Amino acid sequence: MKILLTGASGLLGTAVARAAAAAGDEVVGVVGRWPGAVPGVARLVSLDLADSAGVVALARAERPHAILNCAAIAEPAACDAAPELAQRVNVELPAALAAVARELGARFVHVSSEQVFDGATPPYSIASPVSPLHRYGRQKAESEGRVLGAAEAHALGADPCAAVVRVPLLFGNSLGGRRSVHEKFLEAWSAGKTMKLFTDEIRAVASAENVAAALLELAARPELGGVLHWTGAEPVSRWEMGRAICAHFGFPPAWIEPVPRTALPEFTATRPRDLTLDLAPLDRELRVRPERFAAAMERLVLPAWWSERKAPSTNLQAPEKPQT
Ligand SMILES: NC(=O)c1ccc[n+]([C@@H]2O[C@H](COP(=O)([O-])OP(=O)(O)OC[C@H]3O[C@@H](n4cnc5c(N)ncnc54)[C@H](OP(=O)(O)O)[C@@H]3O)[C@@H](O)[C@H]2O)c1
Repeated sequence: MKILLTGASGLLGTAVARAAAAAGDEVVGVVGRWPGAVPGVARLVSLDLADSAGVVALARAERPHAILNCAAIAEPAACDAAPELAQRVNVELPAALAAVARELGARFVHVSSEQVFDGATPPYSIASPVSPLHRYGRQKAESEGRVLGAAEAHALGADPCAAVVRVPLLFGNSLGGRRSVHEKFLEAWSAGKTMKLFTDEIRAVASAENVAAALLELAARPELGGVLHWTGAEPVSRWEMGRAICAHFGFPPAWIEPVPRTALPEFTATRPRDLTLDLAPLDRELRVRPERFAAAMERLVLPAWWSERKAPSTNLQAPEKPQT
């Protein structure tokens, strides 16, 4: 299968590229500012996806069997810092990709987020109304409607050609070593800060590799369309994530500090409390299975920059805010 993959340099996109290449797929990968190679990508194209005309032209020239959209401005703070840019990348881009996929008869898989929910009433099913707490969540929710609307507007037959997959907080080893959860912890520790981690903020974290496998299976299953959920096998708290990361790398448990959300109310208004998702119907449909947290943890490595940094202080300072 020929796949056009946007966000090929991202945490999830790199996992998709590797897995697709290993399965014998041909990957045309789109990156933005990433300057290097991306393992698994047969042809790498640099484009500013804030203007979707370039990638639409690329799709028409390449005529892929499937388009997988892993590009996004994927952090709430970054969306607030550049709202118009984030709107173009997080909403206009997926809508344009859905339309061109339908025009070409290609399968379209768009990645959305658990952050479309407010975290107050888990578990969330695919029928639960969205309730985002911040701009990023609102943009992801809007992207879902735009993608399915664009697919529908061009619909030729009964089979849905677009799938929108809400995924959770992702674990993994990113290309630059600064995008995933443990890499952000490492950045804080290398700056001499301990981590305050909520004991009662819950995410069903998944590995980028496991989500990539689910997305690739979905790419080949056009009968599975609409909004879908995919996460790890069990919900864990931020504190449990931190404890597991410290244990995995042999770091002192004192580098993390457990706190309840009530201890830092100024930071919790826009942080969903519990984003456990109900995986039906995908959990019945896919051969890929949701992965256990401990199994995903085992593949985490220290990024190259960690061994090149100045030695961290042994007396880390408490941060002003919790880990995001
Ligand atoms: N990471 C998570 O915990 C998480 C959780 C839930 C949902 N998601 C969703 O999962 C998907 C993948 O996220 P991720 O964590 O892999 O994100 P990421 O690591 O931040 O990667 C984002 C990708 O988008 C590309 N991109 C962003 N703006 C661009 C632009 N203007 N032009 C071209 N490329 C641009 C980046 O390219 P360059 O780096 O080359 O510029 C990069 O390849 C997103 O839809 C995200 O919303 C992620």
